[in-house]
Amino acid sequence: MDKQLFIVGYMGAGKTSLAQDLSQKWNVPCWDSDALLEQRIGTSADEQLALDEKLFRARERYLLEQLAVIEWGIVSLGGGIVEDRESREMLKELPVLFLDTDVDTCWKRVSEEERQRPLATDYDSFCLTYQRRRNLYFACSRWSVKEENVDLDIPDFLDKQARAL
Ligand code: S3P
Repeated sequence: MDKQLFIVGYMGAGKTSLAQDLSQKWNVPCWDSDALLEQRIGTSADEQLALDEKLFRARERYLLEQLAVIEWGIVSLGGGIVEDRESREMLKELPVLFLDTDVDTCWKRVSEEERQRPLATDYDSFCLTYQRRRNLYFACSRWSVKEENVDLDIPDFLDKQARAL
């Protein structure tokens, strides 16, 4: 079975934790696109986005192109990767899981974290972006799982993945 998996979802959805859990479970490496971009550029993904969103989305796209050829591992992607049309087209060809977490849980997490995400400063616009992106996440993913059902649904998801790949 090929164990490549890309995880998309909103800010605070729990993508990084899920990627780490699955990577331990499957004994495969995991990467986080925000962390990779930070290593590459030398400033945090959030700072890069605040400075120039267009450039940041282009960097995410270029990174995705490189990650798309890995055959072994779990990749957790920044929540805004679906804002870029070309990235969306790439995602549609990849084994992508949408981690579908409700907006209030996402908001609670991002507002409690020390990390200051530029796109998570006020609740109303956070909710509007969530609603708009949710359709994009669905359009770009092969599977979706509600965060509260991860433990229940992931075994089933694994079977599906094994059949699909
Ligand atoms: C962003 C999400 C962040 C980070 C950047 C932009 C977004 O990553 O890439 O602040 O547009 O949703 P997380 O999804 O890990 O919070």
